[in-house]
Amino acid sequence: MIIPVMTIIAPSILSANFSKLGEEIKAVEEAGAEWLHIDVMDGHFVPNITIGIPVVKSIRKITDLFFDVHLMIENPERYVERFADAGANGITVHIEACENAREILQSIRSFGCKAGLSLKPATPLESVKDYLDLIDILLVMSVNPGFGGQKFMPEVLPKIREARKLIDESGKNILLEVDGGICDENARIVREAGADVLVSGSYVFRSENYRKAIEKLLL
Ligand code: DX5
Ligand code: ZN
Repeated sequence: MIIPVMTIIAPSILSANFSKLGEEIKAVEEAGAEWLHIDVMDGHFVPNITIGIPVVKSIRKITDLFFDVHLMIENPERYVERFADAGANGITVHIEACENAREILQSIRSFGCKAGLSLKPATPLESVKDYLDLIDILLVMSVNPGFGGQKFMPEVLPKIREARKLIDESGKNILLEVDGGICDENARIVREAGADVLVSGSYVFRSENYRKAIEKLLL
């Protein structure tokens, strides 16, 4: 899969209407989304429980969108192969949840997926520096993971800028993704800070018109 060079919008289905999930996915696809962000939570790494492997497998049948699977779970190494088989295109794990990040990132790539590494707002960027040769996506959280609909934390902006610099200086082909509280009021500043991919859940799915909402994120 070719990674586009423009800003990518990745609606998070966590805020979609699950009673008509297929239609919701088709609607964001038609509205111009290129990725679909899929938040997987286990009730341990974060206090919430959300979507799992059968859902990914089922929605894989209805769309060719890039499935950006965000694992907010403990022991992520146990589940990488099953998410890959279910149809994930990218699998992102949290540095805070990895006992052996090197091994798990290599395993994600070995199953043909893009490998992503994420960090919570309080986790310093230093913690991911040693893994740049093994990742395709660096996911900076701009809320504490666990729930959709939280407010963007502006104090994360310096970290986003630092991450941009780190990636540029590394010369590696890594996409910088930002996740949490992204809406029309902060999308521009997040893009200016260097983000390539904007995750947006509640802002997109609670809007009247998904296309207009996505367009506003790109203004
Ligand atoms: C938070 C999730 C986010 C969230 C984004 O734990 O990782 O992806 O669903 O939703 P909004 O855009 O509503 O913050
Ligand atoms: Zn997420």
